Amino acid sequence: MTPEQFRIHGQQAINWIAEYYENLESYPVMSRVQPGSVRSALPPAAPEHGEPFEHLLRDLDRHVMPGITHWQAPGFFAYFPANSSPASVLGDLISSGLGVQGMMWATSPACTELETHVLDWLVELLGLPDSFLSSGDGGGVIQDTASSATLSALLAARERATGFASNREGVQQGQSGRRLVAYASSQTHSSFAKAARIAGIGDENIRLIPVDANYAMDPDALRIQMSDDRAAGHHPFFVCATVGTTASTALDPVDAIADVIADVAFSAPVTPVAPAAPAVPVAGDQPDGSAWLHVDAAFAGSACVCPEHRHMNVGVERADSYTFNPHKWMLTNFDCNVFYVRDRRALTETFAINPEYLRTDVGDSGAVIDYRDWHIPLGRRFRSLKLWFVLRHYGVEGLRKYIRSHVALAKEFASWVEASDDFELVAPVPLSLVCFRHVGGDAVNRAVMERVNAGGSTYLTHAKLDGRVALRLAVGGVRTERRHVEAAWNEIQAAAADGGLD
Ligand SMILES: Cc1ncc(COP(=O)(O)O)c(C=O)c1O
Repeated sequence: MTPEQFRIHGQQAINWIAEYYENLESYPVMSRVQPGSVRSALPPAAPEHGEPFEHLLRDLDRHVMPGITHWQAPGFFAYFPANSSPASVLGDLISSGLGVQGMMWATSPACTELETHVLDWLVELLGLPDSFLSSGDGGGVIQDTASSATLSALLAARERATGFASNREGVQQGQSGRRLVAYASSQTHSSFAKAARIAGIGDENIRLIPVDANYAMDPDALRIQMSDDRAAGHHPFFVCATVGTTASTALDPVDAIADVIADVAFSAPVTPVAPAAPAVPVAGDQPDGSAWLHVDAAFAGSACVCPEHRHMNVGVERADSYTFNPHKWMLTNFDCNVFYVRDRRALTETFAINPEYLRTDVGDSGAVIDYRDWHIPLGRRFRSLKLWFVLRHYGVEGLRKYIRSHVALAKEFASWVEASDDFELVAPVPLSLVCFRHVGGDAVNRAVMERVNAGGSTYLTHAKLDGRVALRLAVGGVRTERRHVEAAWNEIQAAAADGGLD
C-alpha cells in the first residue's frame, strides 16, 4: 500500500468509524449471532492473493458487524464501560502508525518519557500521593489490564517478602520457609485469585475476608484472619483493597486496612518455623515484614478527577501500589491500565533481567527508565500517546464534567428505583453503578434482564449480592445521555409488568 493509497483507505476507514458512531443507536446492543456463525461465513483459508481494500470493508459490514456487541452504544449499561473516545482512537491510530517498541528508553525515548510525564500528571489530577511520582522513589507504568497490574504487585510483594529469594531459588523456598498468605475481600475481582495462582501462591493460601453491610471489606475480620495466620506461623504478605468492587462499587476502607497491616506486622512478630536463612538484601525497606498493600481501583479510580470523590483515596498514601483503568471510565480506548508503586525498586528487583542483547549504555547508567523492567512483557506499545490525546483534548474540566454527568444520571436512576414499589436498591451508589432488583426474587430478575436485553436498545448484566441476583446498570458510556437511562428504566418497568415472570 503506497502512502497515497494509504491516505485514501485511511479516509475510508475513518469515515467508516464516523458513520458507525452516527448510527450506533440503530444496532441491537447485544450481538444476536449464534455460536459459530461468524466463522462459518469466512473462507476456510487465508486468500492466496491480496484483495482490494473495499472488499475488506464490505466483508467487515457483512460478516463481522453482526457478531459485534456494541460497547460504545449509549444503551450499553453492562459490566463496566470500556470507553473509546474519538480523541483516543486517533492517538491510538498514530501510535500504530509509528509502530514503535517502547521496551527501553533507547528504543524510543519519547515513548518512555511521555508515559512517565503523563502518569505524573495523573497523580496530581487524581489527588494521588506524591510518593507515586517519578521524581521520588516511586512511579507509574502503563500496562494492558488491571489483572496484569495486580499480578505484578503480587509478584513484587512475593519477592519482597522472600528477600527476593524465590527469583533465585524458586517459589517453594521462601527466606524462612513460611507459607505466604494473601488477603482480599470476598467481593474482590477474580483477577486477585488468578494472580495468586500464577504467582504460585495457590488457592489454599488466599483468604477472602468477609464484608460489611455495604459490601466493603471488614477490617476487624481482616485483623483476626491475619493475626491467626501469623500465630500459625504463616507470613501474611499481600493485601488487596478494592476501591469500587466489580459487583457493586463498594469502597474498601484503605486507611483502616493499612492500620491492620501495620498493627499485625508490629504486634505479632513471627517465629520462623524453619531456621532463618542468611540475611539477604531486601528492596523496599520493609524490615518488619509488613504485608504489601495493593489498591485496585480499576473502575472507580477515574472518578477522582473530581475532588468530591477523593475520599476514596484516604489511606492510599500508605499503599505500596495502586491501579486503575483509564480504559474503563476515562475516555481512553482499551487497553490502558495505569499502575503506580511507592518504591520502584521492588518492581525492578522482581522483573529486571539484563541480557547482553538488550543492554545500552544509557540504560546501564541508570539515568533513564527502561519500562521492560517494570512488568512482565518485554515489548510494549506506545499507549501513553492516546492518554495524552485524551487529557489534552478534554482537559481536566472536560473529564470532570464527564464523570459528574454519569454520576448524576446514576443517582437519578437510583431515585426512580427507590420510588418504585416493585424494585429496590441493593447497595449504596457511590458512583455511577446502580445495583437493584425486583422484589419478586431471582427468577423474576433474570427474566426482566433477559427481556430487556432482547429488546436491543439496552444491555444490562447481573451479579450476586448476599447470594441473590442483583441487576446492574453501569452508567459510563461516552454517548450515554439522560434519555438513554430513562429509556432503560421504562424498558425495565415494562419487562416487569409484562407478566410471564413465573
Ligand atoms: C475492580 C476490578 N478489578 C480488576 C478488573 C479487571 O480488569 P482488567 O480487564 O483490566 O484486567 C475489573 C474488571 O472489571 C474490576 O472491576
